[in-house]
Amino acid sequence: TESLSVQELSKKLGREPAELIKKLFMLGIMANINQQLDKDTIELICADYGVEVEEEIKVDITDLEVHFENEEENEADLKERPPVVTIMGHVDHGKTTLLDSIRNSKVTSGEAGGITQHIGAYQVTDENGKKITFLDTPGHAAFTTMRARGAKVTDLTILVVAADDGVMPQTVEAINHAKAAEVPIIVAVNKMDKPSSNPDRVMQELTEHGLVPEDWGGDTIFVPISALKGEGIDTLLEMVLLVSEVAELKANAKRKAIGTVIEAQLDKGRGSVATLLVQDGTLRVGDPIVVGHAYGRVRAMVNELGRRLKEAGPSTPVEITGLNEVPQAGDRFVVFEDEKTARQVGESRASTAIQEQRSEKTRVTLDNLFDQM
Ligand code: GTP
Ligand code: MG
Repeated sequence: TESLSVQELSKKLGREPAELIKKLFMLGIMANINQQLDKDTIELICADYGVEVEEEIKVDITDLEVHFENEEENEADLKERPPVVTIMGHVDHGKTTLLDSIRNSKVTSGEAGGITQHIGAYQVTDENGKKITFLDTPGHAAFTTMRARGAKVTDLTILVVAADDGVMPQTVEAINHAKAAEVPIIVAVNKMDKPSSNPDRVMQELTEHGLVPEDWGGDTIFVPISALKGEGIDTLLEMVLLVSEVAELKANAKRKAIGTVIEAQLDKGRGSVATLLVQDGTLRVGDPIVVGHAYGRVRAMVNELGRRLKEAGPSTPVEITGLNEVPQAGDRFVVFEDEKTARQVGESRASTAIQEQRSEKTRVTLDNLFDQM
């Protein structure tokens, strides 16, 4: 809390309110018993009593983001940032094949010699130097858990529909998720190499779910591809860049980084390892950071090729070490000025989380009790 009333402070100090009011009067402050005192005044009074104020830092990370958003932002500092894309679709329609195909055609050719590792996300660069970030956490799991935790990470989703199978239950589910999150959809009509492929049927069925192809007067982009043969991939990426240009995605690389955890685990040698998506600002090695209720300093930072980075700008996925705990996918992260504050905020958030867990347990127990009755 940033302020206390005269009564509350007098209680904390074990003094009569009247005494405090008198002291305040001597300091030139006319106060009554319910008067709210600001931090500076509290410190002044406490100093007078020889009491040191132990700052109680209880800040919610969302408050911090609000604080960061209120930071004087120079319009000129807002620059275009790469889109962050997820791939969704029914089982076996070719999501993994597409992700691999994009990665293989772009990442390795661009940066020869790198050994690709699975960090849950990667970035590709087209021939014009335009970047696209892909989240490759399996299935819609990532999308749904992150959504459930309130994190919005995706700018655009590619809906993969196999042309030989058509719209299936998880196709519809994916459409609903994307709609709920207000994320634009590009349809990749996959497996076009198959003789049994029927793209017209896919268009017909998707139209029934509100995704009307441009050719039919709608505004949904459909791209025929073969993820297996690597056909249509360049067009698909072009369309992704087109849609994201329309969305005017911007970020300020000059501010301290904020973003979301894509995945995290405990590594025997390296400790807590987390893949973070920098959503705004620039993340640097050495930055004091709070991630969910974990905290620390960014010790090492690598990209999906295992290359060490000193800094990472907006829409960049990076794997970092240096946290005291393993955060969860969907947790938000915020960079702080100094490590002390990061630790205080991290610890305070950790204890709040424990309390919440406890109260949740109590509730569960009560529910169980009723179940048994
Ligand atoms: P889940 O992760 O299980 O939901 O499946 P997925 O959507 O990731 O599909 P995956 O990429 O594993 O592909 C399923 C099968 O379809 C595999 O045998 C792929 O080789 C095949 N496949 C994917 N894309 C194509 C394509 O463009 N053409 C053909 N012929 N087969 C494809
Ligand atoms: Mg897969």
